[in-house]
Amino acid sequence: MLLLTSSKSRFHLILFLCLSANLLFARNPIRAKHGMVVSAEKYATKVGVNILKMGGNAVDAAVAVGFALAVTYPAAGNIGGGGFLVLYDKNKNATTLDFREKAPLKSHSKMFLDSLGNFVPELSQNGWQSSGVPGTVAGLCYALQKYGTMTLAEVIQPAIDLAENGFLLDYHSSKSINTSNKDFNKYEASKKIFTENGKELTEGRLFIQTDLANTLKLIRDNGADDFYNGSIASKIVEESDRHGGIFSLEDFSSYKVIEREPIIGSYKGYKIISMGPPSSGGICLVQALNVLENFNFTKNDWNSSNYLHKIIETCKYVYADRAEHLGDSDFVNVPVDKLISKDYAKEIFNSINENAVPSKEISSNILLKKESEETTHFSVADKFGNAVSLTYTLNSSYGNKIVVDGLGFLLNNEMDDFSSKPGEPNQYGLLGSYANSIEPQKRMLSSMTPTIILQDDKPIMIIGTPGGATIITQVMQTILNVAEFGMDIEDAVFVPRIHHQWLPDEVYYEPFGLSDDVIKNLSQKGHKFGKPRRLGLMEGISIDQSNKLFYGASDPRGTGKAMGF
Ligand code: DON
Repeated sequence: MLLLTSSKSRFHLILFLCLSANLLFARNPIRAKHGMVVSAEKYATKVGVNILKMGGNAVDAAVAVGFALAVTYPAAGNIGGGGFLVLYDKNKNATTLDFREKAPLKSHSKMFLDSLGNFVPELSQNGWQSSGVPGTVAGLCYALQKYGTMTLAEVIQPAIDLAENGFLLDYHSSKSINTSNKDFNKYEASKKIFTENGKELTEGRLFIQTDLANTLKLIRDNGADDFYNGSIASKIVEESDRHGGIFSLEDFSSYKVIEREPIIGSYKGYKIISMGPPSSGGICLVQALNVLENFNFTKNDWNSSNYLHKIIETCKYVYADRAEHLGDSDFVNVPVDKLISKDYAKEIFNSINENAVPSKEISSNILLKKESEETTHFSVADKFGNAVSLTYTLNSSYGNKIVVDGLGFLLNNEMDDFSSKPGEPNQYGLLGSYANSIEPQKRMLSSMTPTIILQDDKPIMIIGTPGGATIITQVMQTILNVAEFGMDIEDAVFVPRIHHQWLPDEVYYEPFGLSDDVIKNLSQKGHKFGKPRRLGLMEGISIDQSNKLFYGASDPRGTGKAMGF
């Protein structure tokens, strides 16, 4: 037994214990003076930081990260999918870019129904017809041309190098690819790249993607034009024709990035800038925060049953409105102003009481099912004062698992984000109405919520996540963790979260996320619980504007990386 004879040695022991405890438990955000990049994959993050170091701005870096992730994070990084970018620039201008996929001209509202009119999810999630016309290449090139300072050749080259020279597949990347081994084996072109003659890829191998490198070189040399009007478009349409797809050359030549006004809201003095339709993200986020703003929470309320009850009840109303009203606002009338108004939030606030209101009493009928996981978010901030929040996706992990032969990239299965049959859930269990039904050229409703938070008109937080239907509630809680509870960005992305999406009428929660006491209290109020599951993969930045310091945190639920300089 250790005998501590002097008070000095006792002091040293206590100091030692405190320090080691600190080392064991401290989760300090990455800190930097000149800029920060946080993405779901380390090589891509490094590409972004190098661009910042070369003097590029946040848009240059974001575009470089977007192309790099298409190589190093094929589960969700893409040039065959689409997404949304939210920009707040050094001159205090906020804008958003919509490069969401759109339904092909030959699509129609009944394309995923069988002869009896039943929805066939197999069709909206698999095969060539599950793909929308990709928007990523147009979106990244538009962003660079309008808001960047570097050339396309400069920002795309790191991605080309990663594809051409390869990168080492670590444990996580090989495991992720191998999870879809069976699906990749269904398609010759996918099998060639994502399997070793049909077998699983080994950890530690150099992963070279020559076809993808060549496609990226065509984009480098000819710009987005090659993808939409040139050899890439022709090849995609040729392959689509060969495999029962419905893409036409006109689908590609008519694709346009749409620059849209952001959704702007506020929460207790913070300004929220987020994505509007065809994403539901910004509207639902602002609507929920407007309701929650009416409650007075104390620091000790965090994840208490009292706090969670209020979040859950709020989300039921928000997701019921989402299902009923939201769709592509270029095709349907979305009552944006009403949904994000403080008055409407007050009405919802007034209907929340101490007990859970069953979801079926909040709005119409309907039934649901499960969700899958893949999309990716990255956040970038530069020393000039620009901030970029970008979420893009193939929808499911590796999209529909179909590589376009000879081009080396995967296609999305975003058509499943439409409401193929009003009242039938999609793969995220999300319901929709006619507002989100399939129409040629329409963009499918999304939940992606790339967001920037301002204080005194300066960006203090850049945040986003994948997670399908759960994206909105995860972003909301991470914002509350900072704005309401004063957490630093690392804690804010780390701590457990919950989710409720109106239907199914159950609370999703994380393993080790809720104590038995809290579950018991919430159950007594009438809440029901699903199985625990992990929620979200936040990639966040906070900025201390007084000291001009950037803090970055990549969600420990994933294997991403925050890096600054
Ligand atoms: O746009 C959407 O809302 C979905 N396609 C996002 C998919 C997603 O987040 C999957 N990831 N975890």
